[in-house]
Amino acid sequence: GEIRCSGDTIVIGLAADSGCGKSTFMRRLTSVFGGAGEPPKGGNPDSNTLISDTTTVICLDDYHSLDRTGRKVEGVTALDPRANNFDLMYEQVKALKDGIAVDKPIYNHVSGLLDPPELIKPPKILVIEGLHPMYDERVRDLLDFSIYLDISNDVKFAWKIQRDMAERGHSLESIKASIEARKPDFDAYIDPQKQYADAVIEVLPTQLIPGDNEGKVLRVKLIMKEGVKYFSPVYLFDEGSTVSWIPCGRKLTCSYPGIKFSYGPDSYFGHEVSVLEMDGQFDRLDELIYVESHLSNISTKFYGEITQQMLKHADFPGSNNGTGLFQTIVGLKIRDLFEQIMASKASAPLEATKT
Ligand code: ADP
Ligand code: G6P
Repeated sequence: GEIRCSGDTIVIGLAADSGCGKSTFMRRLTSVFGGAGEPPKGGNPDSNTLISDTTTVICLDDYHSLDRTGRKVEGVTALDPRANNFDLMYEQVKALKDGIAVDKPIYNHVSGLLDPPELIKPPKILVIEGLHPMYDERVRDLLDFSIYLDISNDVKFAWKIQRDMAERGHSLESIKASIEARKPDFDAYIDPQKQYADAVIEVLPTQLIPGDNEGKVLRVKLIMKEGVKYFSPVYLFDEGSTVSWIPCGRKLTCSYPGIKFSYGPDSYFGHEVSVLEMDGQFDRLDELIYVESHLSNISTKFYGEITQQMLKHADFPGSNNGTGLFQTIVGLKIRDLFEQIMASKASAPLEATKT
């Protein structure tokens, strides 16, 4: 790689389609770092930014170059690169990484307009979340770690129905139509980013119930790239072996359809990866400690930290299944990565870091 000066900000990219659990993931991640995060004080009430002691989360929708009307006039969706300013995204993420504050635009999700910018100071950890954190090669190269939330179409549909029908009063037909309308751009511009991710959380319908497509019981895979600096994949029982584990028995209560874990090596877009999979859901969250105690390399600071995090946020979506479990684990791995990078900088303060 290139030689670059060591700034003090590490940059994490989180990519997913909208409505796929990015904000839930962010809440789990910032909780591991000790603070939930709040919008900048005294600023625009419609700011998309969340700031805590260590971490600033910015939403890449703020780099829309076309507002809602502009997109309509040009006939492009928010997913289309032509609706986004990647030059500015690159400049500002680079500046923050180099320790320089920026005036970042705000895309107002309520009005659909671009609001006056807000001042963002360089944090210890900058998370850029949105539709395109790994789309532009220059931005991608600034990332110290990247995550892609890959929600399969069936599950995405089930979640959208839950939210847009129950909470927003949309019709089934209009939800179907809006998903279909987004799909070509999603396939062209969003989905391909997963090949670059260091970790992918893939969410699929369960295989424990034949023919199920309700999207309530989920099969979730945590796909972890091998050979990523400061990131050593989690494993089950025996690193590198292939394992299938049904933990239901004396120590874990499992009602129908039960729980099944799998673990093993695989290949993903030509990269070597380790994959941990959980199908099914927990009946009792406190019993998660039994599963936690069989996982290794989880980067916890004390016995039971995963279970504690999951219990603390039991009300977040996905807490009883692999989505919540793997989001929590990725949060712990990012804390570990951050601490390792800080330690390596502390031991070589004046040298350029080779990446
Ligand atoms: P985003 O920030 O990507 O738009 P959110 O985290 O706000 O997504 O989640 C959007 C909606 O998707 C939630 O309100 C919920 O209905 C559903 N959802 C998200 N994550 C999960 C999950 N793990 N399990 C079930 N539903 C989920
Ligand atoms: C944001 C979201 C997009 C969503 C858009 C709405 O940019 O990230 O996923 O599609 O808002 O755009 P619209 O043109 O429908 O207002």
